[in-house]
Amino acid sequence: MKIRIYAIAGTVALGGLLFGYNTGVISGALLFLQIAFHLSALMSGIVTSIALAGAAFGAMLAGPAADRYGRRIALLGTAFLFIAGAVSSSLADTLWLLLSSRFVVGIGIGAASMLVPLYLSEVAPTHLRGRLVSFNQLAMTMGILLSNLVGYGFAATGGWRWMFALGGVPAVMLAGGMLYLPETPRWLASRGQLSQAKAGLQKLFGPGTDIATQMTTLQEDPGGLAKASSAKKSGAAAMRRPLIIGVTLAVFQQATGINTVIYFAPVIFQSAGISSASSAILATAAIGAINVGMTFVAIWLVDRAGRRPLLLTGLFGMAISLCLLAAGFAFGRSLNLGWITLASLSAYVGCFAIGLGPVFWLLIAEMFPLGGRARGMATATTANWAANLVVALTFLTLINDLGRPAVFLLYAGLAIGALIFSAILVPETKGLSLENIKTLWTKSA
Ligand code: BGC
Repeated sequence: MKIRIYAIAGTVALGGLLFGYNTGVISGALLFLQIAFHLSALMSGIVTSIALAGAAFGAMLAGPAADRYGRRIALLGTAFLFIAGAVSSSLADTLWLLLSSRFVVGIGIGAASMLVPLYLSEVAPTHLRGRLVSFNQLAMTMGILLSNLVGYGFAATGGWRWMFALGGVPAVMLAGGMLYLPETPRWLASRGQLSQAKAGLQKLFGPGTDIATQMTTLQEDPGGLAKASSAKKSGAAAMRRPLIIGVTLAVFQQATGINTVIYFAPVIFQSAGISSASSAILATAAIGAINVGMTFVAIWLVDRAGRRPLLLTGLFGMAISLCLLAAGFAFGRSLNLGWITLASLSAYVGCFAIGLGPVFWLLIAEMFPLGGRARGMATATTANWAANLVVALTFLTLINDLGRPAVFLLYAGLAIGALIFSAILVPETKGLSLENIKTLWTKSA
């Protein structure tokens, strides 16, 4: 059963790989796009961030689509969006075609970012849920690293078309996988299709497995989707607290600055004195590798230690390393600023990768009751992409206006805010079935 469920999670996590690859690929391609399309600074910013805007839109669409057509069909549609976007962006010969293709890819990114954890949380057995849902974050960090390496590989020839086209490969694999994989038993049960849910469970866990317990658990939340609209109207307690936690953590995940590092690491390194482009790219790849490595650690720990310890320790570490980074930029000129920057950025990314990175996506996949899960996740995910866009658009201006130390101190302050918020409001969900998590909100509301 274990191998089967891991194989399924690995296939669906291709959506996470696509999310990471397609957000990361632009940094390697941009230099060549600037030449090919004569981009001004403003236009470069738009080319970079249009996918983020598309992602906010895609996350919004994916919630209703996942409720209406099912998680599987929504993921299949997302894979086709990625394929279409990869083909058209790699063939783009006008700026408008490039922008619209990247917008389509962005819709795919936003949809995948919520559908993958949604699907994984609904097929995972309780004791493996943290780990399996976090495959999404792992695949995403690998996708980012892969995009850095592909960007590096094609840099000498300026092959930006290839950089975009290669994103089509995992998309074809995801589409193939989704044709074969079953719908989630929870979605089927919520539509009253109990015999299909049973067949789905059998397919997930393999023939001969005893699925009676899982069937009983599924039936503890009967008619979940039917209750969705009334839950929405009355703003039921079971939705309210998860929404507050989900949206706030979404904003904190971005406002503490992770993507200033992921998107602008070479620029930060160059300003810290690591001046040659190739060492800056190498340092960036090192950060990417730490991101992947520490996500493995999170996956190993999340169902053992639980979500809260990882989240709180990670946030604490992020705040400390951001303060060190700020201090480095403020006082480090006489010391070796390049090394201080590399060390504190590595610590910062490592702490994100063990806590707020995976735990945010996991919590939003498990906190909502079935009836409002897809919509709740879509709301939190849209907030995440909107915050991502705001941070990406303001980072360079803030650095200019306030200076580096103040900007990183600002992110440190927000990490402390996130720490206090999480310590007070985020519950432990380890070991609870999705159906039982619901009782956390009604009990203490
Ligand atoms: C965030 C992304 C970020 C990535 C970095 C994710 O959890 O949502 O915005 O780029 O982590 O690993």
